[in-house]
Amino acid sequence: MGKFNLLLKNLKICSVGAGYVGVPTMAVFADYCPDVEFNVVDINKEKIDKWNSDDLSKLPIYEPGLDDIINKVRGKNLFFSTEIENNIRKSQIIFISVNTPSVVTGKFENSSDLSNFKKCAEFIAKCSESDKIIVEKSTVPVKSADILKKIFKTIKPDLKFQILSNPEFLAEGSAIDNLRFPDRVLIGSDKDTSSIFARDLLVNVYKNWIPKQKIITTNLYSSELSKLVSNAFLAQRISSINSISALCEVTGADISEIAKAVGADSRIGGKYLKSSIGFGGSCLKKDLLNLIYLSNYYGLKEVADYWLGVLKINQFQSKRFINKILKCFNGNVNNKHINILGWAFKQNTDDSRDSPSIAIAAHLITKGAILNIHDVKVSKFNIISDLSSFWKNKGFCSEKVSEFLDRITFKKTNDIDTFNNSSAIVILTEWKEYKVLNFNKIYAVMSKPSFIFDGRKILNKSKLKSIGYKCFEIGKN
Ligand SMILES: NC(=O)c1ccc[n+]([C@@H]2O[C@H](COP(=O)([O-])OP(=O)(O)OC[C@H]3O[C@@H](n4cnc5c(N)ncnc54)[C@H](O)[C@@H]3O)[C@@H](O)[C@H]2O)c1
Repeated sequence: MGKFNLLLKNLKICSVGAGYVGVPTMAVFADYCPDVEFNVVDINKEKIDKWNSDDLSKLPIYEPGLDDIINKVRGKNLFFSTEIENNIRKSQIIFISVNTPSVVTGKFENSSDLSNFKKCAEFIAKCSESDKIIVEKSTVPVKSADILKKIFKTIKPDLKFQILSNPEFLAEGSAIDNLRFPDRVLIGSDKDTSSIFARDLLVNVYKNWIPKQKIITTNLYSSELSKLVSNAFLAQRISSINSISALCEVTGADISEIAKAVGADSRIGGKYLKSSIGFGGSCLKKDLLNLIYLSNYYGLKEVADYWLGVLKINQFQSKRFINKILKCFNGNVNNKHINILGWAFKQNTDDSRDSPSIAIAAHLITKGAILNIHDVKVSKFNIISDLSSFWKNKGFCSEKVSEFLDRITFKKTNDIDTFNNSSAIVILTEWKEYKVLNFNKIYAVMSKPSFIFDGRKILNKSKLKSIGYKCFEIGKN
């Protein structure tokens, strides 16, 4: 192990991509490995400027606990920069942490869009002047390592690039804890001596704070595919419980009681069994689509159809929720004032990528509702941009989109006037701030009947009913 300790002392690690994965991972690495220099680089100058901002409230993403670590290690052994070339040259290990969204149209629709990933690899190859270890941190389709190998061999045949797969399993909102105390760290590599050396070097970086038994090593393809499968299994659990919530609503069974009873079986476990409006975020849907695409690509239609079912239930769940709201208004929400509480795809993040809130709010507005939208962390700018893109993708012209946007206000929830004449409150994110609203005072200013649609099952319904609200809760008759 002596040789690794020596190597760690002089090690420089670079992450290309300063987003929700690149920054929290490098910040936690930097905190636990004070002898190693970490540089996070990105093509987005505005983002890098914000990561370098003295005002920690201006960091480009919200992740609990991240500001404290940045404050501790930035300028010591963690640096943010747009100087990609220099930082690549001087680093021995380079993490590729760029975004890999789904392809949205054309022949390769729903596959993983690897353009950022490939561009990044090409750039690394072009500016490298010495051998390097390249780590796939981005979520990529199985066999992407072969693409990397080809790029490096073509552009820099005289240098050696060892490819490792080290997928990230953090969940936004709890990323820092997930990185400090992960269930496992997965590292895939080839089995030749140089690859094993590269793998063991990365294992040794992680061993600064992760017990050895939690570090799993596999071949490259198993590691790449494990990430997609993990997200598919998480999505599958959410869709499983949500599918049963529909059955509860028509039979009188209660989904929370079922989740408790079923989850008590140690073979099943209780996590990810909370019924809701469905999953969102930048990963679950896109990784499922990628798995479905890959299954079809390899001629495994039954496998693809199985996972497609998980996605279909997710869409079904948010449609059911919208229909429930419409039904309570006899199908007519025209000019009804509705308060939307929550925009982020879950609590403790400002990320609203693929949030179910977008489709739900957009649908209500197209039916004529007037919305006040609130979120604890998502900015007004991002909410407008989410909705504009949603409507544009649905084929609405710019004039119509502006007309829709005119039907939205963004007033704060601590001002009771925000709820004046509102017909309904719709909870779309489980922010704890919404649990402690003064529902007595709010009820007094709302129009009657006053509805609450709790899409996250966070409120005490019997209390609300005693105030006078008409409540709808997912998975309960
Ligand atoms: N967000 C999550 O919770 C999460 C969790 C696990 C894995 N992942 C995976 O990690 C990857 C990154 O996700 P993210 O949420 O951090 O994305 P992100 O959009 O927050 O950040 C990606 C960053 O990469 C930068 N970038 C793109 N192309 C570049 C290039 N050629 N050179 C330099 N910078 C470039 C972008 O400017 C952006 O700042 C994705 O593959 C994602 O699937 C994400």
